[in-house]
Amino acid sequence: MLITNIRQLVLTEENARTTPLRGSEMADLSFIENAYLFIENQRIIDFGPMSNCPLRADQILDATGRFVLPAWCDSHTHLVFAKSREEEWVNRLKGMSYEEIANRGGGILNSASRLQEMPEEVLFEQSLERLEAVQKTGTGLIEIKSGYGLTVESELKMLRVIRRLKESSQLGIKSTFLGAHSVPMAFRDGNRQGYISLIINEMLPKIADEGLADYVDVFCEKLAFSVAEMEQVLEAAAKYNLRPKVHVNQFNCMGGIAAAMKHAAISVDHLEVVDDSDIAALQNDNTIATLLPSAPFFLQDHVPPARRLLEANVPVAIASDFNPGTSPSGKMPFVISLACIIMKMLPEEAIHAATLNGAFALEAAADYGSIARGKYANIILTKSMPTLAYMPYSFGSDMIERVIIKGG
Ligand code: NIG
Ligand code: FE
Repeated sequence: MLITNIRQLVLTEENARTTPLRGSEMADLSFIENAYLFIENQRIIDFGPMSNCPLRADQILDATGRFVLPAWCDSHTHLVFAKSREEEWVNRLKGMSYEEIANRGGGILNSASRLQEMPEEVLFEQSLERLEAVQKTGTGLIEIKSGYGLTVESELKMLRVIRRLKESSQLGIKSTFLGAHSVPMAFRDGNRQGYISLIINEMLPKIADEGLADYVDVFCEKLAFSVAEMEQVLEAAAKYNLRPKVHVNQFNCMGGIAAAMKHAAISVDHLEVVDDSDIAALQNDNTIATLLPSAPFFLQDHVPPARRLLEANVPVAIASDFNPGTSPSGKMPFVISLACIIMKMLPEEAIHAATLNGAFALEAAADYGSIARGKYANIILTKSMPTLAYMPYSFGSDMIERVIIKGG
């Protein structure tokens, strides 16, 4: 397929980067005006200005007036879940806090009971529908976590559903084991260690045996797992070569960032609250700070200090955190708008964070995240619009005309 007369071909790379973007690189978005893009066998074969355009192709798509971007790389989601939780949301509107709801057995535990009851087939069918919906809004690579099972059987069920999604979809999918998402009620009275042992001795070996996870995650927070508990899980997961991508600093600074980095974390996610020692830990490292602006937007909570992280030269990615409790939407265009509106990221920075740095946060930048020869032809063709910034600016409006995944 040959796409011609592209108004702007965005995020082109002559030589694909091997390290995430940071600092001033984030705002420096490369593009070619009046460009062509040539796709064959699922991959990007060539691109350049129209003056160099090859004349022949089986299929020609005229993109006059429109932009072409790499598809979004959404590096943090909980897309497999059994049921929405709008009744909790209404309780929050009436004044109850997210923590209060969680401590009463709502929140993650509520999602877990619903998921435990649901047959694997039904869970798969509705997750596939959600996956197809986010593909339509431009997602081409996605991470999906377990963590609403919280029993050996149900965590395995979630991860098997994710494996079936990998087999059934053209999207790039990475799976993360998040058994340490919440301590089940039965373990809360003096037996937290019993649940950690279940994760380490029962869940991890089975998951590794079936090759069900690419990464490990822990929710390190006062209402979930302590830093020491997180470290126990990360240490055990390392024996199975599962690198960490962890939930830290959502409500409290607890030293989780530095601790996760000791265990070679690929990314530390959330970071709504960050202190000086967190910044110092992240400053000279390739660990990616993955910010999830729709969660604090939905909870009306602290906004991640994106500017401070960018100024400290920390590689920043943004992701949807699609989940029924704190971000019931997986629409990346809205996340990109929010990144600009509430975190003051520039459109160029937000686009880099949602594509190439998201791909790095999933160790998949060799195949995803930019317009580079040899990468998958995962692209977004916009509707006609005046500038690239118009896309995040016109929040909530649908500026995507077509999403092409692996050339089709
Ligand atoms: O990323 N922080 C932990 N996990 C999810 C929320 C889970 C839920 O409420 O269902 C998050 O915000
Ligand atoms: Fe999350």
